[in-house]
Amino acid sequence: MAAPRFHELEIVKVRSETPDAVAISFAIPDELEDVFAFTPGQYLTLRADIGGEDLRRSYSICSALSETGRRTVGVKRIADGRFSGFAQTLRAGDRIEVMPPQGRFTAEIGGDHDYLLLAAGSGITPCLSIAKSVLAGEPKSTVTLLYANRNSASVMFRDDLNDLKDRYTTRFTLVHVMDEEVQDVEIMNGRLDAEKLESLAKLRVIDPKSADAIYICGPEPMIRSASAAMAALGVDGDRIRFELFTPAPGAKPAPARSDGAAVTATATGGAGQGAAVEIILDGARRTIRVDARSDTVLSAARKAGLDLPWSCAGGMCCTCRCRIVEGAATMDENFSLEPWEIEAGFTLSCQTRPGTEKLVLDFDAQ
Ligand code: FES
Repeated sequence: MAAPRFHELEIVKVRSETPDAVAISFAIPDELEDVFAFTPGQYLTLRADIGGEDLRRSYSICSALSETGRRTVGVKRIADGRFSGFAQTLRAGDRIEVMPPQGRFTAEIGGDHDYLLLAAGSGITPCLSIAKSVLAGEPKSTVTLLYANRNSASVMFRDDLNDLKDRYTTRFTLVHVMDEEVQDVEIMNGRLDAEKLESLAKLRVIDPKSADAIYICGPEPMIRSASAAMAALGVDGDRIRFELFTPAPGAKPAPARSDGAAVTATATGGAGQGAAVEIILDGARRTIRVDARSDTVLSAARKAGLDLPWSCAGGMCCTCRCRIVEGAATMDENFSLEPWEIEAGFTLSCQTRPGTEKLVLDFDAQ
């Protein structure tokens, strides 16, 4: 399978969600409908030249599976966020480069399940896609969504959520938790932390133990806290999924598996110096020199003008995944590869430093 490539798409709608968040819809031409097919929970990577720099950011799709012809993402401005600030200036009619859907925080639609979704802030976007798709595509499934925000002004997709509540009165439960606004029901006030989740479970507002699948998306501290709370409540790790885009500063590699086992690359050689790294991409081969003291494979490839697939450049998204077919390497960080993938020789090129004089990386390997 070919490595993912960007496609220039037209923006057909930009809707203000909150004072600092927008929903951006892209038109998907008929010939790209299959390329942009997605599983609820996946994200799109956008690319733009901002101030002379090639910047890329990943934003979760909030569309339902049934919404063909367009894909919508939610973008919340973050402090000093160059791309998220730029995104607020986009308008209908603008064109922007978009990579096809990726990501493993997914819900395969077609069963009969009870879902528990825990979202904070802009973490609502993949959860909204999952909720809409499940409720429309699984007639017997139920969805409970716990959505944490500072106050009601920071609630994204309020209309979509209210619409789901009206349409699926017996199968969709929405609970808002706010820490800067007092709601009538005391338990709904405060931070969505482990203590809050345990209290909500005790009061049967949520029922994690009987949920078939639990999806958690938000800032890293919330994900860690919620995951720990679910474990403390006796939820099996294999029923928990979480999405991590931006680790907290200084964060250790997050568990890539739901059982909480941290994953790191196996060091298989010493630091290389000017190693010859052969890149296989779309069936073509090219060799670059990579000094492991100063560069990862991705950073060296970019300096050499090679257009490798990448998005976060932080070991989180897996867009840059490739397979070591010869030689050895180490990874600085790994927030996304599963243990079996490391066993099978996969690595993240944005984190990979050669450990042998020759290294061959196959980006076409699946
Ligand atoms: S570019 Fe995201 S993990 Fe490497």
